[in-house]
Amino acid sequence: MIVLGLESSCDETAAALVADGRRVLADVVASQHEVHERYGGVVPELASRAHVVNVVPVLQTALDRARITLAEVGGVAVTSGPGLIGALLVAVQAGKALAWARGLPLVGVHHLEGHLAAVYLEPDPPPMPHLALIVSGGHTSLVRVEDHGQVVELGRTRDDAAGEAFDKAAKLLGLGYPGGVVIDRLAKTGDPRAIDFPRGMIARNTGDDFSFSGLKTALLHHVRAHGVPEGQALADLCASYQAAIVDVLVAKTTRAARREALDHIQVCGGVAANSALRAGLHAAAAADGLRVHVPPPARCTDNAAMIAAAGYHRLVRGDRDGLDLSATATLPLPRRARAGARGAHA
Ligand code: KG4
Ligand code: ZN
Repeated sequence: MIVLGLESSCDETAAALVADGRRVLADVVASQHEVHERYGGVVPELASRAHVVNVVPVLQTALDRARITLAEVGGVAVTSGPGLIGALLVAVQAGKALAWARGLPLVGVHHLEGHLAAVYLEPDPPPMPHLALIVSGGHTSLVRVEDHGQVVELGRTRDDAAGEAFDKAAKLLGLGYPGGVVIDRLAKTGDPRAIDFPRGMIARNTGDDFSFSGLKTALLHHVRAHGVPEGQALADLCASYQAAIVDVLVAKTTRAARREALDHIQVCGGVAANSALRAGLHAAAAADGLRVHVPPPARCTDNAAMIAAAGYHRLVRGDRDGLDLSATATLPLPRRARAGARGAHA
C-alpha cells in the first residue's frame, strides 16, 4: 500500500509517498527558514500562510517525483498534533479533502510518533522494544517504544526543549534561525572545555526528566559579562554550550537504557542531526554494549516520509479517522505512572 504523508506542524511543509511503510518513493520538504530567520524564531501566523501557499505544490512535486497519480495512493496520513494550531490545520484540511475526494482511508498521526518512525525507513531499524530519545525544537523526551504507535514516556523536559536551547542561544549570539545547525558548525573548531556551563539535572537521582533553562540563563550571564565573542572565542563558546546539552542527553539516555534493560536506542527529532550528539551517543553506547540508531540528518528534521511510515502502521492495524479529524496543539504522550503515585494508571 502506498501512503501519502502530509506534515505542516511547524515551519516545514512536507509531502511524501511511502510504499508498505518501508520504501520512500518521494519525500518533499519546503522549509520556511527564510520567512522566520529575521525574527530569530517561528512566527505562527507567517508559518500558517506559507503552508497554505506551499501545500499543493509540495504535494504535486511528491506525486511527480514518485511518478504516480493519486489513483495509486491507498491511504492518507496527516500530522494532527502537537504543533502550531494554524499550521497543523493546513495539512489536516488538505488530507481530509483528498481522503474525501478519492474515498481513501485517513489517519491522524502524532508528530512524535512520526519522528519515531523515521528510523523504520532505514535498512536496519531497531527491534521492539527499544529506548528512544526524541529531541526536537519543541520536545525533549525519553520514551520506551513497545511497538509501532505504542509508547510510554519515561521523562521529558520541565522547561525548554533541547532544540529550543540551541535556537535561543543562537538568537542571543546573533547567529540566526534555526540555531542548532549554526552552533553545530561553529562548535566543530571550538574547545568544548573552554567554558564550564551547567549540566541541568544530570545527577543520578533526578529521574528521566530534563531541564535546559538554567543553561540558557548561564549563557545570558556570560554574554552580559563578556559580550558576544568573535572568531575562535565564539567557536569555543558554541562548543562549550553544545557540550553542556550533549553531556546531559548522553548521560541520561544511556542510564535509562541500562535501567530498562534495552540494548537498542534510537535518537530522532531535529537535534538528532547534531554531530556532537551523534558522536557522543555512539561512543558512550559502544562502551556499554548498546546500539544507537539515528536517521540520516534530513529525516531527523521535520519531513512527511516519517508521517507516512507511522500512518502506514496505524492503517494496517485498522485505525481510521473521520472527516471530523481536527488538529490539536497540545498532545502529551502517555506517561509512565510514577511508583507510589496515588490514583495513577499503569
Ligand atoms: O524536529 P524539528 O525539525 O522540528 C520540531 O518538531 O521541533 O526540529 C527542529 C529543531 C530546531 O530547534 C533546530 O535548531 C534543531 O532541531 N536542529 C539542530 C540541528 N539541526 C536542527 N540542533 C542541533 N544540531 C543540529 N545539527
Ligand atoms: Zn518535529
